[in-house]
Amino acid sequence: MPNAITLHDKTFELLVTHDSLLTAVDDIARKINTDFAEQEVHFVCVLEGAFIFAADLVRRITLPSNISFIKLSSYKGMQSTQQVNTVIGLDGSLAGKNVIIVEDIVDTGNTIEMLINTLQSHKPACIKTAALFFKKQVYTKQYPVDYYGFDSINGFIVGYGLDYDKLGRNLKDVYRARD
Ligand code: IMP
Ligand code: MG
Repeated sequence: MPNAITLHDKTFELLVTHDSLLTAVDDIARKINTDFAEQEVHFVCVLEGAFIFAADLVRRITLPSNISFIKLSSYKGMQSTQQVNTVIGLDGSLAGKNVIIVEDIVDTGNTIEMLINTLQSHKPACIKTAALFFKKQVYTKQYPVDYYGFDSINGFIVGYGLDYDKLGRNLKDVYRARD
């Protein structure tokens, strides 16, 4: 894999290799399999960024599982816009289900806060959040991020589902924007 790549006008440097990503996914899956032993779980994958993480995660889950997709958007380029829009909503009810939100990255937390508030109206049995990346230093919300792979990320990252203005989602490894 290259040590640096260019997307649009920006240079990005290799930060996390594919093998390290998969080790983190293994750990998250193991915890979910243990915490929900013998129960059914319902994953809600937040498009578009979480699609690769969700695909790798659910294939490591040994519990009876269901998955649905929701599309939200809050980012423009490298800036969070504060406002979270629902682009594709959920079909069907999550009443009584063990819901696990699958996010690529939790940054300010605006997205998961809005999503958890919305999902609560379905009266699920529980709502947990699994995010591969967690920008803990900038997170300002009260809800816990129950499962995460990496929590000391700073800067803007791309790859493994994450994009910079639509580019970079297909990269196997994760890269960080050079300042
Ligand atoms: P939040 O609402 O600020 O927590 O941001 C959540 C969403 O913003 C994530 O699901 C991503 O889609 C996007 N995002 C946040 N940080 C990054 C980043 O470093 N790279 C790419 N997308 C990001
Ligand atoms: Mg996202």
